[in-house]
Amino acid sequence: MKSKTKMTEVDKLKAELDQVTADLALERARIEAFTTKRDQIFVIPSKTSTIKFGVTSDRHVGSLYHNGEALNAFYDYAKEQGVKMIFDAGDMLEGHKIYRGQEFELRDLGLERQLDRITKDSPRGIETHFITGNHDDSFKHAAGADVGRAIAAAIPGYHFIGSTKARYIWKTPNGDCIFDLLHPGGGTAYALSYKVQKIIDSLEGGTKPDVLAIGHFHKAELLPSYRNVCGLQAGTFQMQTPFMARLGTPAHVGGWIVEIKIGPKKLYKTVRGEFVAFYHQADGKKSEKKLVSFSKTTGGKR
Ligand SMILES: [Fe+2]
Repeated sequence: MKSKTKMTEVDKLKAELDQVTADLALERARIEAFTTKRDQIFVIPSKTSTIKFGVTSDRHVGSLYHNGEALNAFYDYAKEQGVKMIFDAGDMLEGHKIYRGQEFELRDLGLERQLDRITKDSPRGIETHFITGNHDDSFKHAAGADVGRAIAAAIPGYHFIGSTKARYIWKTPNGDCIFDLLHPGGGTAYALSYKVQKIIDSLEGGTKPDVLAIGHFHKAELLPSYRNVCGLQAGTFQMQTPFMARLGTPAHVGGWIVEIKIGPKKLYKTVRGEFVAFYHQADGKKSEKKLVSFSKTTGGKR
């Protein structure tokens, strides 16, 4: 009788193990299906269904208009808020020969000097995961230099996670929380949300993230639910350049503190975004940090 009970327990455990193995195989297949040479996917186990992190983008170190003071202040603020991870959506460096006259907007000319600058001036103390953008890639086009690897090798706590895009999947008790980082191409649009909508329109059904952080446009915006994706324009740490002034497009300087909550059985999710905005003052005084809070809730499954 006793051994029969033991057998039942063993069978039960075996069935559970089989189920876990099958789930893992499915998960692996799903991840491999999404993976291409350009796309990186990182899976993080999470004990809670609330994920908190910072988002920055478009630092453009090496530009005369890079605002290192604001970036350092943002990291300090994020540390105070208990942020342990920051994601950056690309254009870490200003790059080389992106547009006519760019050389006159540079503080540091060439890869070596821009790498020296980012190594010396970058804020530390929060693990920083970054993709590279079109400005970083200018060094690749000019001489095959892998800027992402070089930055990660030079700065402790900085991790290069892909060129142009990357995906993080948190495995929470309530289901997956999928976060994508993207550095698209193309010019800015007059309507703030237009490009974000077009990018989300282009996502294939079944591959959409819960939250998509977009760099490149140097704008800050939180679009709570478009095709059930929360779109976040990541802002910039480069003040408006003469190039941007000529195009008539502003720079939204600052970074985000983001908190995502996945509801039970993933029936809903909430996304709370706080944009930490910095304003440049024309009289030469230091930038003043100003906090702007947006709180959005989005419902439903993807
Ligand atoms: Fe940029």
